Amino acid sequence: MTVCVLHAAAEMFPLLKTGGLADVVGALPPAQSQLGTHARVVLPGFPAVIAGLTDLEPVADLGAAFGAYNVRLERGVLQPHGVVVYVVRADQFYDRPGNPYLDAAHRPYADNDRRFALLGWAAARIATGADPKWKPHIVHAHDWHAGLAPAYLRAFERGGASRVASVITVHNLAYQGTFPASEFGALQLPPDFYAVDGVEFYGLVSFLKAGLYYAERITTVSPTYAREIQTQAQGAGLHGLLQTRTHDITGILNGVDYSIWSPSVDESIASKYTMAKPSGKSKCKAALQERMGLTRDDDALLFGVVSRLTEQKGLDLLLSAVPDIVQRGGQLVVLGTGDPALETGMKNAAAAHPGAVAVELGFDETLSHSIIAGSDVVMVPSRFEPCGLTQLYALAYGPLPLVHRVGGLADTVVDCSLENLAEELATGFVFDSFDRAGIVGAIRRSFALKGRRTEWKAVVKRAMAQNFGWETAALSYAEVYQPLLGG
Ligand code: ADP
Ligand code: GLC
Repeated sequence: MTVCVLHAAAEMFPLLKTGGLADVVGALPPAQSQLGTHARVVLPGFPAVIAGLTDLEPVADLGAAFGAYNVRLERGVLQPHGVVVYVVRADQFYDRPGNPYLDAAHRPYADNDRRFALLGWAAARIATGADPKWKPHIVHAHDWHAGLAPAYLRAFERGGASRVASVITVHNLAYQGTFPASEFGALQLPPDFYAVDGVEFYGLVSFLKAGLYYAERITTVSPTYAREIQTQAQGAGLHGLLQTRTHDITGILNGVDYSIWSPSVDESIASKYTMAKPSGKSKCKAALQERMGLTRDDDALLFGVVSRLTEQKGLDLLLSAVPDIVQRGGQLVVLGTGDPALETGMKNAAAAHPGAVAVELGFDETLSHSIIAGSDVVMVPSRFEPCGLTQLYALAYGPLPLVHRVGGLADTVVDCSLENLAEELATGFVFDSFDRAGIVGAIRRSFALKGRRTEWKAVVKRAMAQNFGWETAALSYAEVYQPLLGG
C-alpha cells in the first residue's frame, strides 16, 4: 500500500519563508515521495503561495468558515519536484502584503486565531474527503499554525467521519499560538474540547497544545530537543503534557536539501567549489568582504551570522564578544531581521568597528548563501535551538560552525577539543555555558585552530564530508507513521 500523507503548514520554500520551517516543508515531501510515501502539502493562500504554483485548479467550495465567506480549496503544483500543494483560498484572511503573521507595525494580526484555525480545519476537510480524487492516511501538522488540525479530525470523527490519524511536528515550542478563551466559540470545535484535556492552557486557547494533545504521535526536530522539552526548565509550560506522552514522542533531525545548499551547484555564490577543489571558497570570501564593505583580507578570520534576530538566537551574547573578535584581527558579518533592540545593537557594533563588522538588516536569500560560502566560521550561539539549519549549511560549505551545546546544535557539531581532534571527530566549536566566558572560549579556539593550517584544513574537510541528507529523516518519519496505518 502506498502511504499518503498531507502536510499542513504555514510556510514552504521557495514559495514563502521566514525561517527553517519553510526549508523543512519544502524538502521533506519530495524526499518522502522519493522513498515511496505520497506526500502533499496544504498551505494558506498567501499571495506568494498563489504566485509560485503552476496549474492551479479548483477542488472544492468550502463555504463560509470562521467568519471568512466563500472559502475555496484549490490544488496546484510546485516545481521542480512536482509536489502537489493545496491552497486554502480566503482572501479576506490571507491576501495581505508583507509578513504572513504580523501587520505593518510588527504586531500579530488580531484575527490570527481564525486565519490559522482555517488552515487546520481545511487539512481535516481534505482528510475527510474534500478532494474526491485524493485522501491522505495521515495528516502531518507543523507547529502551532496547523495545531488545530488534529482537534478537527477528532471533532469530525465524533460527527461520523472515519478516523484519520495525525502527527504533529514541533519546530519551536516557544511559539504556541495562544488566544483569549473568549475566542474559543469562534473555532467551531465541540464545547467540551475547551478543557485541560483539550485545547485549554492556563485559561487560554492554545493551538500548539491542541496539537500535542490530539495528535497520535509527536515529533520534534532533533533528539536532544525531544528530551529538553520534557523538562520543566525547557518545556515552556507544556512539559507536563509532554511527559505523559513520552512514548509517543520522537526526535528526528532535520536534513539539508543539497540541491539548494551545496557549494558545487549554488548559482548564487561568487564561485562554485568542492571539497576536492576548494579554491573558489576564497573568491567567495573576497566577494563577501567587498559586498559588505569589510577590509579585503584573506587572512582575517571571518565570522558569519544568518539569523532571525530574536532572544532565542543568543545574539546579545555575540554582541558582548564582538571586541574579542575584532581585537584578534577577525571580522564579523551579520544578516538578520527582527527585534528592534538587537537590530540597533548590530548597527552600533558595525558603526564602532568600520571595516571589521558589517551588518545587513533584512531578509535576503541570496546574501544568506553568500555569507555561508564566504565565512570561515558560522556562529549559532542560541539559548535554545530545536534543530537549527544554518550550522548544517555551514558544514556543507566549509565554514566551521561555532555553536552553543543545546538542542539540535549539540546533535550536529563536534567541538575541536584536543581529544576530538586527536580522534578525528571534530567539526566545529561548541561551548557549554551560555555566558561571555563560554562564547569567548570558543572564539579563542577558532583563532587557535586557524593558526594551525593543516589541522584547520583537516577539520574543514571532515565537516564538508558530513551527510545530513533528507533520506534519513524521511525514513524515520515513515517509521513514525507505520503503526498509525492500522485501519
Ligand atoms: P529558525 O527556523 O529558528 O529561524 P533555522 O536555522 O532552522 O532557524 O533556519 C533559518 C533559515 O532561515 C535558514 O534557511 C536561514 O538561512 C534563513 N534565514 C534566517 N534569517 C535570514 C535572513 N535574514 N535572510 C535570509 N535568510 C535567513
Ligand atoms: C524552528 C527552529 C529551528 C528549526 C526549524 C526547522 O524555527 O527554531 O531550530 O531548525 O524550526 O525545523
